[in-house]
Amino acid sequence: MPNLRLSRDGAVATVTIDRAEKLNALDAATLNELEAAFDTLQAEAAVRAVILTGAGERAFVAGADIGELAQQTPHAGKLTAQRGQRLFRRLELFPKPVVAAVNGFALGGGCELALACHLRLASENAQFGLPEVSLGIIPGYGGTQRLARLVGRGRALELVLTGNRIHAAEAYRIGLVNRVVPLAALLAEARGVVDAMLRNGPLAVEAALEVVQHGLEMPLEEGMVLEALAFGVLCASADMREGLQAFLEKRKPVFVGR
Ligand code: COA
Repeated sequence: MPNLRLSRDGAVATVTIDRAEKLNALDAATLNELEAAFDTLQAEAAVRAVILTGAGERAFVAGADIGELAQQTPHAGKLTAQRGQRLFRRLELFPKPVVAAVNGFALGGGCELALACHLRLASENAQFGLPEVSLGIIPGYGGTQRLARLVGRGRALELVLTGNRIHAAEAYRIGLVNRVVPLAALLAEARGVVDAMLRNGPLAVEAALEVVQHGLEMPLEEGMVLEALAFGVLCASADMREGLQAFLEKRKPVFVGR
């Protein structure tokens, strides 16, 4: 995959978008490669979490590829937005935790990509923004929807309507990112967060992801039903018995994912 690097270290895969000369901008080929990478990682049972980052020290992803966008007809534009939306939704509903390690500019489609991940860690030099209105368009990969859901309508509208960029510290203040760390420590920090997840019961982690994600899109009553059902299903697992037994025996649990 010319625009993507995929590596694995134990149960953690790292996907690095690598078009550094274009600040890792997402062209159609890169979107296809991302989809293929996540297909592969979903099928690999040994991979239990994914870190998504950008190559180099300047950009996570500086947006959709503006050169490609410039040539689009209205109908092609609609299809492009739908293509990105489908892929980012796929990431959002990915059954294994996906952590964005945002190592620089996360603009436009890059900000939207980070928003589709389950957690966002940012380096101190990271900058976030949805500058599409400055190009005469709007965010088309879910940004108008996910940003408002994450940080609230007023803050989202400020970013969407002004197109202004914000630094990592401000992104942290408004709840757009989970943590801010020095660039040199970013991947290690992401790995630490992922390792903390991997110490837990795999079925529980998968269920928690599903229940939080789908529950957010349901009325509270139905979300509670979903939670109780998933809770009940987990009570039939060997991991649940192991987790409780290990606590009672004052030892670390050994989860098997059953
Ligand atoms: N699409 C295509 N190419 C992009 C790009 C994008 N979204 N963002 C950056 N690039 C390219 C530049 O065209 C340039 O290529 P070139 O060297 O062939 O001219 C290269 O990446 C480096 O970018 P440059 O603009 O020279 O770096 P800078 O440090 O001056 O500015 C940014 C960095 C991120 C502020 C600036 O590149 C930018 O505003 N990018 C567009 C962001 C955007 O609007 N994204 C939303 C798109 S919908």
